[in-house]
Amino acid sequence: APEYENIKIDVVGAKKNVGLIQLNRPKALNALCNALFKELRKAVKDFDADDKIAAIIITGNEKGFTAGADIKEMQNHTYSSITKAGFSQEWEDVSNCGKPIIAAVNGIVLGGGCELVMLCDIIYAGEKAKFGQPEINIGTIPGAGGTQRLPRYVGKSKAMEMVLTGNFIDAHEAEKMGLVSRVFPVETLLEETIKLAERIGTHSPLIVKMAKQSVNKAYETTLKSGLQYEKSIFYGTFATEDRKEGMTAFVEKRAPTFKNN
Ligand code: CAA
Repeated sequence: APEYENIKIDVVGAKKNVGLIQLNRPKALNALCNALFKELRKAVKDFDADDKIAAIIITGNEKGFTAGADIKEMQNHTYSSITKAGFSQEWEDVSNCGKPIIAAVNGIVLGGGCELVMLCDIIYAGEKAKFGQPEINIGTIPGAGGTQRLPRYVGKSKAMEMVLTGNFIDAHEAEKMGLVSRVFPVETLLEETIKLAERIGTHSPLIVKMAKQSVNKAYETTLKSGLQYEKSIFYGTFATEDRKEGMTAFVEKRAPTFKNN
C-alpha cells in the first residue's frame, strides 16, 4: 500500500540527493486538509533526517499549488473548538527543518498555500502562478503567518492590499515584490528548481545548514542581535573540517571534497 494518500514523494537529481514532495489531492485543488499536512510534515522530517538528501522541493501540479486551508474542515469550527485544536500550529514544524526547502509553484497559491511557501527558504514560480490571501472573502483572516510574514516579504502597503482585498497577484508581480526569487516557463519550472537544489547540494550540508539558520535569524530578531548571531555562526564554521577543506582547496586551486563535518 502507498505510504501517502495526499502527497507523492520521490528522490530526484543526477546524484539522487534532492527530496521531492508533490501535493496530490486533486479533487480539492490540493486544499491543505489535516491529513495532507500530517503527511507533509512526516515527509519533510524524513528527508531532513536522511543524510543522502541535500535539499527538499515542495511542489503542486500544473493546475496549481494549493487552494489553501481546507474550508470544509473549518466550516463548522467554533471559537473554542479551533482554539483547542490549535489551527496550523504544526505548520511551524516545516520551518524547523534544517535543510533548505524550495517551493516550486504554478497556478493557484492561495491562503494557507501562500503561507506555506513563505515558510520555505526559496520560492520559484511558474509563469502562471497566482498568489493571494483570500481569507477575507470567507469572513476570516490569514491564520498561518500571512499577516506577519507577507509584510516582511513585500512591505506593508502591498501586504495590506492583498489581505484586505483578497485580490491575486501574478508571478511577475510577485517577483518584482520580492516574494519569489525567479519566474520560469511552466514546463521548465521543476527542472530549474532541481538544478537549484543540486547546486546547493554541491556545498557542505553542515555549512548550508548554518547559513540557513543565520539568514532565518534576520526575520526573527533585531539587527544588533542578528549580527551577533551571525558572527557566532561564522566563527563556528572555523570549528568544522569543511571550512578548512574549502579554504585549503581554494588556495591549492582544486575542487573541495566536503565531508559534512
Ligand atoms: N478548501 C476545501 N475545498 C476546496 C478549497 C478549499 N480551500 N478550494 C477549492 N476546494 C474544492 C471545491 O469545493 C471544489 O470541490 P467540489 O468539486 O467537491 O465542489 C473543488 O475544490 C474545485 O473547486 P472550484 O469548483 O471552486 O474550482 P474553480 O476553478 O471554480 O475555483 C478557486 C478555484 C478560485 C481556487 C476556488 O476554489 C476558491 O476560491 N477556493 C478557495 C480559496 C480560499 O479561500 N483559500 C483560503 C482558504 S482559508 C485559509 O487558507 C486560512 C489560512 O490562513 C490558513
